Amino acid sequence: MLENIKLDTEYVRSQFPAFDDAVCKDWVFAENAGGSYVPRTVIDRLTHFMKSTKVQPYAEFDMSKMAGENMDRALNYFAKIINAKKNEILIGDSTSNNLYVLSNALGKSIKKGDEIIVTNQDHEANISPWRRLKEKGAIIKEWSFDKKDGELKLDKLKKLLSKKTKIVAVTHCSNIVGSVNNLKLIASIVHKYKAILIGDGVSYAPHGFPDVKELDVDFYTFSLYKTYGPHVALLYGKEKILKKLPNQNHEFLNGMYPYTLNPGGANHEALASLIGIYEYFYKMYDHHFSNTKLGIRKKISKINELISQHEEDIANPILKYIDQRKDLTLIGKNKISNKNRAPTIAFFSKKHSSKKISKIFVKNKIATRNDNFYAWRCLKNLDINPRDGVVRLSFTHYNTIEEVKKIIKVLDKI
Ligand SMILES: Cc1ncc(COP(=O)(O)O)c(C=O)c1O
Repeated sequence: MLENIKLDTEYVRSQFPAFDDAVCKDWVFAENAGGSYVPRTVIDRLTHFMKSTKVQPYAEFDMSKMAGENMDRALNYFAKIINAKKNEILIGDSTSNNLYVLSNALGKSIKKGDEIIVTNQDHEANISPWRRLKEKGAIIKEWSFDKKDGELKLDKLKKLLSKKTKIVAVTHCSNIVGSVNNLKLIASIVHKYKAILIGDGVSYAPHGFPDVKELDVDFYTFSLYKTYGPHVALLYGKEKILKKLPNQNHEFLNGMYPYTLNPGGANHEALASLIGIYEYFYKMYDHHFSNTKLGIRKKISKINELISQHEEDIANPILKYIDQRKDLTLIGKNKISNKNRAPTIAFFSKKHSSKKISKIFVKNKIATRNDNFYAWRCLKNLDINPRDGVVRLSFTHYNTIEEVKKIIKVLDKI
């Protein structure tokens, strides 16, 4: 763990123009699991693309060359950030879209009687596309989480796996329970059955970009609009599997993986602006650390540690507060330690509807909401009405302890 170095939130917040913006500045922003603010570096890259290089990329003229170079740079950086190869990642419209495209491709080889395991803890984005393969004759098995603590238990998974299992789809972190699932361990179990593991990293990645090789997942996706970027999403796939997937793009692109997976290309300006995320993390590293010789992945790991420590510091007091209130039910663990939980905190009241509580927060300029957050199976398993849903407070590294104290003060009055 890091000694004596703490995340400099003043510096961090100075990188995000939203905190000085007339519309946003009076708000405590606690809906980060829905989408994060973006740093200036991303806005500048987006503006640069739109102003100077908004032409068809990869031609010989300057503007076009620069556009293509910036798009390629963004892909290269992101490949390094998550420890993948450039031809193992693609940028799609959203995680939901990425997973539908992937299920369509993987579904081509699904035969009657093949088995697919999905959870009921996931966001629907990593459930529906796989459940739909029932149309191909697949048998869908549900890995149900424990109602008491909200956790997915490995012994249950082991009972569901068989020689017929082809796909297992699991979230790296639940957007309701907040728990981080041990994907590395899950991958080692799933691979014993030669099945493919699909990880949903949407609620995990904003709290530290993962090393996909270390996790050994076969596919992994997360939404870049929740990791300080524009509204697009990254999909990683192991090269050896991507290579074999059917071409879903134009016929002449046969063999040109990963472009074969997604019909059409990525949003150019959004892709180019991803350089800004890399620049932001780089700046953060340089602000906090002095060793400039480390590679990108090592620098990302160090930033991840700083972020985790800060998130623990701000989330643990409110987790404790909610957990101790007899009229409130906290979902998931009541403490973060060793990154076992994200600072995504869902709860409900025994006295008031979630909508009412959310309205009180909004009245007090705390940006949050009540919903099922598309994890309606998760809510159903917890016997919560998915229409009223839960109240969710979701923090990220730019939130402060002062903001958390303000939220607790408002909760005190409810
Ligand atoms: C855990 C999780 N997975 C998947 C998604 C879907 O992401 P997208 O909006 O990019 O389709 C979300 C969106 O909130 C999510 O929270």
